[in-house]
Amino acid sequence: MENNHLFDVLIIGSGAAGLSLALRLPTTIRVALIAKGRLREGNTYYAQGGISAVLDKGDTVDSHVADTLDAGAGLCDEKTVRLVVEKGPENIRWLLSEGVSFTRDRPPGEGYHLTREGGHSHRRVIHAADATGRELETTLEALTRRRENIQLFENHNAIDLINGSRGGAQDNRCLGAYILDRESGRVGRFLARFTVLATGGASKVYLYTSNPDVSTGDGIAMAWRAGCRVSNMEFIQFHPTCLFHPHAKSFLITEALRGEGGRLLLPDGTRFMPAFDPRAELAPRDIVARAIDHEMKRLGVDCVYLDISHKPAAFVQEHFPTIYSKCLEFGIDITQQPIPVVPAAHYTCGGVLTDRRARTDIPNLFAIGEAAYTGLHGANRMASNSLLECLVFAQQSADEITARLEDTPLPAEVPMWDESRVTDSDEEVVVSHNWDELRRFMWDYVGIVRSNKRLERARRRVELLKHEILEYYRYFRVTNDLLELRNLVEVADLIIRSAQRRKESRGLHYTLDFPKRDDRFQRAPTVLLPNSFDPECAVDDKPR
Ligand code: FAD
Ligand code: SIN
Repeated sequence: MENNHLFDVLIIGSGAAGLSLALRLPTTIRVALIAKGRLREGNTYYAQGGISAVLDKGDTVDSHVADTLDAGAGLCDEKTVRLVVEKGPENIRWLLSEGVSFTRDRPPGEGYHLTREGGHSHRRVIHAADATGRELETTLEALTRRRENIQLFENHNAIDLINGSRGGAQDNRCLGAYILDRESGRVGRFLARFTVLATGGASKVYLYTSNPDVSTGDGIAMAWRAGCRVSNMEFIQFHPTCLFHPHAKSFLITEALRGEGGRLLLPDGTRFMPAFDPRAELAPRDIVARAIDHEMKRLGVDCVYLDISHKPAAFVQEHFPTIYSKCLEFGIDITQQPIPVVPAAHYTCGGVLTDRRARTDIPNLFAIGEAAYTGLHGANRMASNSLLECLVFAQQSADEITARLEDTPLPAEVPMWDESRVTDSDEEVVVSHNWDELRRFMWDYVGIVRSNKRLERARRRVELLKHEILEYYRYFRVTNDLLELRNLVEVADLIIRSAQRRKESRGLHYTLDFPKRDDRFQRAPTVLLPNSFDPECAVDDKPR
C-alpha cells in the first residue's frame, strides 16, 4: 500500500471523541480515522453507567455545574464546566438523531430512564441499560463506515507527530503524524491540515485497571514530545468496584449499581461507607476508593463486596443484564449473593492542555476526549461526565476546524520515516519484562495512597526504564509493544513528577506526607512544560 497520505483532517482515535468528530465534520472534506486495533476497541465500548446531562425537569444546569465543581475539589475551570453542562442536552439530542438508543422509562413512551451515580444530586445519567458505551460506539461506528469521505485505518499505531522543524515548516505547526501499519510493519507519513488526538487515557500504566489494552496514553506522550503542555497528571481516578476474580480481566461493576441501591460490605457483611461519608456508597469516587483501600489494608483482605441482592431479581436483571450474565459466567448470581470487588485504575483526569475550542499549544493540533485536559474534571471526575466531555469537545473542535479549513494550507515537504539505521530486535523479552515492572511499581508506589518515599522510589525506577527504552527505540525497528511501552514510561514519568509537585492531598491525589488539602498555596492545576515548549504558540490556559 502507498505509504504517503494526504488529508484535510487526521483523527487519531476512534472512541466517542474521534467518531463524533468525524461525523460532525463536513462530508465534503477528506478525513482519516486511525485506530490502534479494531475501530471499536477503546474505553468507550466498555462504558457502562451512561452519560450525564440535564434532562429531567426538576434538574438544572446550575445543579450539574455545582456537583461537578464539588467533585473536582476546587480545581475545575468553572467556565469549561458550564460550557460542557450547557451543551449536554443538545449533544444527547444529536446522539438520538444519529440513532443511539437509550433505556426508556417505565411506563414506556414517557421519556428516558435516568440513573444516579456518585456525586450527582439528581438523577441525570442517561444510559443503555449497563452497556451504554457499546450502544454508543457501535452506532457511531456503523455511521462512520458508511461515510464516503472518511477513510478508516484500523490496526495503525500513531508513533509521533510531525511538527516544527521536523516538518520543515517555518513555525511549530502540526503537519500530521508518522503511523505504523501493524500488519505490514511499515511506517507511513500521514499529512493533514489539522491533526486531532482522540487517543483516550493512560490507565494501562497501572497493574490493575478497568481499561482495555489500547489505553496506553499515546496521545499524551506524543503531544508532550512535540512540545505541548500537559496538566494534572497526578489525578488518576481509581474506580472503586472492579470484579475481583482470578479469571476476570478488567471487568467493571458500574457505579449505577450503587445508584440503584447497591451496598458495600466487609467480608463479615458489615456496611462500612456511612462511617466514611454521609453520602455513603454515593460519595464521589475518590472517597469510596480510598475507603475500600483503607478497609482492605486494615483487615488484610483481598476484596470487599457489593450487594444488590436485596432488590427484586427482575429489577436487577433488567437494569444490569451485562453484569448479571458476566458474573454468572464466574459462578456469581448477583440476584442472590454479593459481588467481590476491588478498586482499579480507571480514568486519566489530566492530559494535553487545551482551550475551550480543543486547541493545544501546537497550531493545527487539537486534543479531545480522555487524552485532553480541558479543566472540566479538576482533581476528580464526576461519574458519566467523561462521555459528555468527549461529545462536547468533538463538537467544539469540529466547529473550529470547519471555520478554519479554507485558510489552512495542506502540508507540503515532509521527510519520510527513516529506518535506515535500525535492525530487528532479538530481545523482545526485554519489552515485556519492562512492561510488567513499570505497571507493578506504578501500582505499588503511585497508587491510591502515595508518600514522598514511594514517589521517589518510583521516580528512580522510571528514569532507569526511560533510559533503557530510549536506547532500544533508537536501535531497533518499531513494534506495537515497544511503541506502547515508550509511551507508558513517558506518561508514568509525567504522573510521578506531577504527584511530586503537589504538596497536599486533594481529590484523587492522596499522600501520607501532606494529608490535608491546602487551598492557600496549592489551589491551582499542575502544569508541566516540555523542553520544546514554544510560549509564542501557547493556548490560553487562564484561569485553569
Ligand atoms: P477511547 O474510547 O478510549 O478511544 C481511544 C481510541 O484511540 C481508540 O480507538 C484507540 O485505538 C485509539 N488510539 C490510542 N492510541 C493510539 C495510537 N497510538 N495510534 C492510533 N490510535 C490510537 N465514562 C462515562 O462518562 N460514563 C460511563 O458510563 C463510563 N463507563 C466506563 C466504563 C469503563 C469500563 C471504562 C474503561 C471507562 C468508562 N468511562 C465512562 C470513561 C469513558 O468511557 C472514557 O473516558 C471515554 O470513552 C474515552 O473516550 P475517547 O474517545 O477519549 O477514548
Ligand atoms: C461506571 O459505570 O461506574 C463508570 C462511569 C464512569 O466512569 O463515568
